[in-house]
Amino acid sequence: MNKPSAGFADVLVGLQYGDEGKAKIVDLLAHDYDIIARFNGGANAGHTVITPHGEAKLKQIPSAVFHANKVLYIGSGCVVNMVKLAAEIKTLADLGISLKQRLFISHRCSVVQPHHIALDLEYGSVIGTTGNGIGPCYADHSIRMKGHDRSGIQLKDLCSDPSTAFTIVQKNLSKEIQPPLSASQISSALAEIEAAWELVAEYVVEDDLFLTKRVSSGARVLFEGAQSVLLDTTFGEQPYVTSSRTGPSYAYTGGDLSCRFHRKSIGIVKAIMSRVGAGSFPSEFGGSASAEYCNTAASRWIGREEESRLDYLALLRSASPLDIGKGIRIQAGEYGTGSGRPRRIGALDLVNLKETVAFHGIDEVFINRCDSLSLFKLTRNGKIPTVVEYGKSHPDVEVKTMEFEGFDLAELDTAQGKAIPPQLEQLIDFIERYVDCDVVGVGVGPKRSDNISRTAKGRK
Ligand code: IMP
Repeated sequence: MNKPSAGFADVLVGLQYGDEGKAKIVDLLAHDYDIIARFNGGANAGHTVITPHGEAKLKQIPSAVFHANKVLYIGSGCVVNMVKLAAEIKTLADLGISLKQRLFISHRCSVVQPHHIALDLEYGSVIGTTGNGIGPCYADHSIRMKGHDRSGIQLKDLCSDPSTAFTIVQKNLSKEIQPPLSASQISSALAEIEAAWELVAEYVVEDDLFLTKRVSSGARVLFEGAQSVLLDTTFGEQPYVTSSRTGPSYAYTGGDLSCRFHRKSIGIVKAIMSRVGAGSFPSEFGGSASAEYCNTAASRWIGREEESRLDYLALLRSASPLDIGKGIRIQAGEYGTGSGRPRRIGALDLVNLKETVAFHGIDEVFINRCDSLSLFKLTRNGKIPTVVEYGKSHPDVEVKTMEFEGFDLAELDTAQGKAIPPQLEQLIDFIERYVDCDVVGVGVGPKRSDNISRTAKGRK
């Protein structure tokens, strides 16, 4: 088989628990690609992109939507919530952005049905799912039949025989939800999804070679991962995971392209880590006490507003890691994009990052949120902790940290776009050597322009 001459694909994934700022980097890199494609997940992803047009919160449409001439592709590994997708398409149309002849969706994507969302809302809270029906939808796709009935549908079923497909949706609405819905609730849920299909149908492509043909004739693809590698359904910590594969290799299965076009894998890291939902998080400030606090806060809808009344300076100066985590969350605005629930906060875990980079063959890394590292200057010892060793677990994992000199935000402000403060450069240089991967970008704020490009120092 001949090697491709010009076209290729790169894959960009988050290397932690999600919310690393992937969308901002996709937006930054998009000019080097022709097609931006998704390969996993669904409306559980939440990208906030700050652009010259204003702030946009997207869930299913690839992040590069504001780059007018880029093609956007949603691969077969994704699950599609048509009602939410139709709403996103309309919102973008209101902003003057048309997706006609730009957005293409594989006909093999599974459809998120209303009963998937109901089941997820009922049973997903133990894990802290986003309530978007992701798990039940992937499960229905794999189970194929429940008894004598098919329960999952793909977009291709709607293309070929919408009436049979909607009969399946209707049957699920009547049989799968407890307590049972009334006849009028069923018909309005059905009407909503039928109306969404009217709008979404024109974007569905039935050609499985859609990407292959384009890449073979020179197109450059950037695959954009949703969720992140530590939430992978198999390599993450069951059951505290999402329901799709999230590693870069899956881009080629869920993104409908042969892996022989792969060029490089790009990893996105957040300098101070966060996690939403339950599950282990060895570097968490305050360990299980923080996990419990965030979990309780989320279930009582306590979030940004309540915490903003706390004195973040006093919290940062506290001797309690739980308080330090709270102070960082308040100042770094670490609350769920859609839900507003407080994210659990932790130090950068280099033990985990090193293994992740090696396992997934990551070629280069962007480190976001380095501006937030300046908050450590306000703590008692003024130093930036990073986790470099794991000890015993009882039940929290005992971690050993290495500390780096803190810096003031003012030092970073003057450096924006020009240079990195020496204390931060020292930390990044260490990360590069420790995890054995080039750090090519340093994020210092939410905007696309808040990124300092960096030439790797060479690790040998
Ligand atoms: P699900 O993907 O909605 O089923 O949620 C499963 C787990 O993944 C939960 O802990 C969620 O909080 C987490 N999760 C899902 N999507 C994201 C994301 O985009 N960012 C961070 N965490 C996520």
